Amino acid sequence: MNYQSLIQYFLFTLLVGCAPCWAQDWGRDVEIQSPRENIYQYSAEDFQLKVSEGRKVALFYPVTVSDLLIPYRPLKTFFESDPSDPVRKILFDLARVVSPFKSMDEVFQWLGVHPYPTSPQDETPNPLPPLSTYEQSLPMGATLIQTADGEGLTFGCAACHFSDLFGVKVLGLTNRFPRANLFFREGQLVAPYINSFLFKDLLKTTEGERLMMLKAKNSTQWVGTKAPMTLGLDTSLAQVALSLAKREIDPYATRTMRSALYPRANKLSTMVADSKPAVWWNVKYKNRWLSDGSIVSGNPVHTNFLWNEIGRGTDLKKLEQWMNESGPQIEALTAAVFATKPPRFEKFFGPKAIDIELAKRGQKHFIESCQKCHGTYQKAWDLPEAEQLTKIELVQNTKVSYHKKTPVIDVGTDPGRYLGMREFADDLNRLQISQNLKTVVEPQKGYVPPPLEGIWARWPYMHNNSIPNLCALLTPGADRPKSYYAGEAIDKKRDFDQECVGYPLGEKTPDEWKKNNEYFYDSQKEGLSNLGHDQKIFIKDGKEIFNAEEKRELIEFLKTL
Ligand code: HEC
Ligand code: HEC
Repeated sequence: MNYQSLIQYFLFTLLVGCAPCWAQDWGRDVEIQSPRENIYQYSAEDFQLKVSEGRKVALFYPVTVSDLLIPYRPLKTFFESDPSDPVRKILFDLARVVSPFKSMDEVFQWLGVHPYPTSPQDETPNPLPPLSTYEQSLPMGATLIQTADGEGLTFGCAACHFSDLFGVKVLGLTNRFPRANLFFREGQLVAPYINSFLFKDLLKTTEGERLMMLKAKNSTQWVGTKAPMTLGLDTSLAQVALSLAKREIDPYATRTMRSALYPRANKLSTMVADSKPAVWWNVKYKNRWLSDGSIVSGNPVHTNFLWNEIGRGTDLKKLEQWMNESGPQIEALTAAVFATKPPRFEKFFGPKAIDIELAKRGQKHFIESCQKCHGTYQKAWDLPEAEQLTKIELVQNTKVSYHKKTPVIDVGTDPGRYLGMREFADDLNRLQISQNLKTVVEPQKGYVPPPLEGIWARWPYMHNNSIPNLCALLTPGADRPKSYYAGEAIDKKRDFDQECVGYPLGEKTPDEWKKNNEYFYDSQKEGLSNLGHDQKIFIKDGKEIFNAEEKRELIEFLKTL
């Protein structure tokens, strides 16, 4: 054996012999040395494969024991039947809420799920895995689960964590207008009226589909829902808390008739704790999860399955078994979530849209006023070889460093979301699944200052979407726009203010948006306050520290993160 192969042999035994010691540490005191982009430290080849596999799991919900599956074929028949059909009329009367739709496509559009792109997209940071035509027949996130009873429709992670950014589908970016919560809520309101034999006769379903409907209807007894204060926010906290309140207080939160009929009181039935789905490309920097950092240990992907399934009324013994059997799928999804990258401004708008000199001046303000909370972003323009770099290369981050331990800080933003956690943390910690997974929830006071990579694409800002663009963010709270109209990011010129980075306001607001009240954001409502994040940040001794030009510089720098 020569010297080189001896080293190889040594490394090989070290790596293989040490495989178990690689098991990821999800403990609360783990310190993060560098971004955990490759969380399981796979080889380069395995990493590619696992991430691709995991993205598929993000698109197609894998939990086969989920109780809330909607028989797909009858649903489609219902929406696509002739509007004058008497059968359709009867069901429409039962299901008033869904009446405007004429096809499944319209239903999916309302739900806010996006169709697959028709060709590969160069701007996307997280390419889609290879998919068959059949797999792409429903929009992203909509999932058909094959069961013994037939095809059941449900929604996966992508329904909330996939967005359309000017026609480019970006995995890991907050879906601006998901209605998955609302869908379950409407379904729950309708369910009691659907007599399963009526359902079978009217829609000519199979016996299996009738049973599936019955099972879904049954499970909604243990689902508690709440409508969001405004479109674009999600009510997961309330849904999980109110659903747990309809179950027994035991390690499996057993579902009984008694618990369904006499739910425990929970403040989240009225208090507002809405927030937006967080972006995925920040998790590699953190060691605690959610906008308030209240999940202090455990794998965040496990928590998502648990929360999703509590919100769907699933039996937790069955979920526990599914989790035990689905290690490889969960691991692949986790690998994919941690490997998510942010979309880049210059890829969408071209390198000319960034003024590097301006951004360099902004960098100074950032280092002085923002870095201590949001992390350090080293730029290629500061490299010794910068002169030889192209403009695209110059604006890249060469190194991003964030806190070794994720901080939680109260900067005076709306408290509703972090306060909400107090109302069901005990109910979650008590669960056997939480114990198995060593997931611990601790209510906090404040929010995590998120890493700011890809911040340009994350408008509207803050956990509750209360600030429409970065100009507004750098305005003292009391002077920020009290309301604004939201809209989809379709047209780069019309739907996005490049100078202020975010929603166009006032005169620039597209007329189309103003026609729809659902898109109106009113910061005066409970939970939607746009105050905070100003004192001691850019207001010192009662005075703003940046003038208009300096704010422009800072925003130019933020575009490059
Ligand atoms: C109904 C919408 C919805 C679905 C479906 C959903 N999420 Fe989320 N997700 C959210 C919301 C809302 C938050 C942020 C809540 C908060 O912290 O205020 C979030 C947060 C997260 C976070 C934490 C990010 C961080 O910075 O700490 C991860 C990771 C995550 N989701 C992964 C998933 C995975 C994996 C799935 C599928 C199993 C999934 N989500 C399904 C809405 C959703
Ligand atoms: C004392 C710590 C602190 C400092 C200093 C600070 N921030 Fe923040 N920042 C936060 C916290 C905490 C949040 C999350 C608040 C929330 O979501 O309610 C936040 C949120 C943000 C967001 C919104 C993130 C998102 O995903 O919506 C942006 C943008 C931002 N900060 C920019 C800045 C800039 C620019 C500066 C410097 C002028 C700065 N911050 C200084 C703590 C800080």
